[in-house]
Amino acid sequence: MGTTPLKLAVLVSGNGSNFQAIVDAIEAERITNASIVCLISNKADAFALERAKKHTIKSIVLDHKGYPNRQAYDTALVELLQQHKVDLVILAGFMRLLSPTMIEAFPNAIMNIHPALLPAFPGLDAQQQAFEYGARYTGCTVHFVDKGTDTGPIILQSVVPILGSDTLETLTQRIHGEEHRTYVEAVRLFCAGRLHVEGRKVIISE
Ligand code: GRF
Repeated sequence: MGTTPLKLAVLVSGNGSNFQAIVDAIEAERITNASIVCLISNKADAFALERAKKHTIKSIVLDHKGYPNRQAYDTALVELLQQHKVDLVILAGFMRLLSPTMIEAFPNAIMNIHPALLPAFPGLDAQQQAFEYGARYTGCTVHFVDKGTDTGPIILQSVVPILGSDTLETLTQRIHGEEHRTYVEAVRLFCAGRLHVEGRKVIISE
């Protein structure tokens, strides 16, 4: 179409299977109008870094241990993202809370995936929380990031039933599968210019 592709940055701390799903979708042109300009990890041993290398995607390790506090780290992060002229920041297993410095630099342009149906089971170990609670259904949520923890406007959700035969491991695995599909779809919609935030609601245009 001749438009400049949107510049995406993916932030990780570990495995990076959601990052991989997005890379694959761009390569297969299921997501168009987008290019990943960098992968940023706060951990030098994150497996996601190997994945980036394989796809010749630029990767950067920004170790939080080199910074005195969250504010200082996030200031460096914002600088890095702005240097790369990033349009959308994708959190994919980035195990750090973001300070207002980051949120204000990228309003409605930071996405996160959470492994439960928000607002149920926010925070850590969401799959375990739902499993132990005895919920019949859980799933995953892609949302824009605001100043709260897992509170931002919801873009997409996918439901995963909790079966009588499930262990925490089998449930976590099925949620993970849904995450990949759901995150790709949310990024696809963003890059197609189809997401608009009105208050708490995300409107998906035709
Ligand atoms: C996922 O479960 C996601 O919901 C959570 O962190 C995990 C990342 O998994 N935010 P991966 O590194 O993408 O495999």
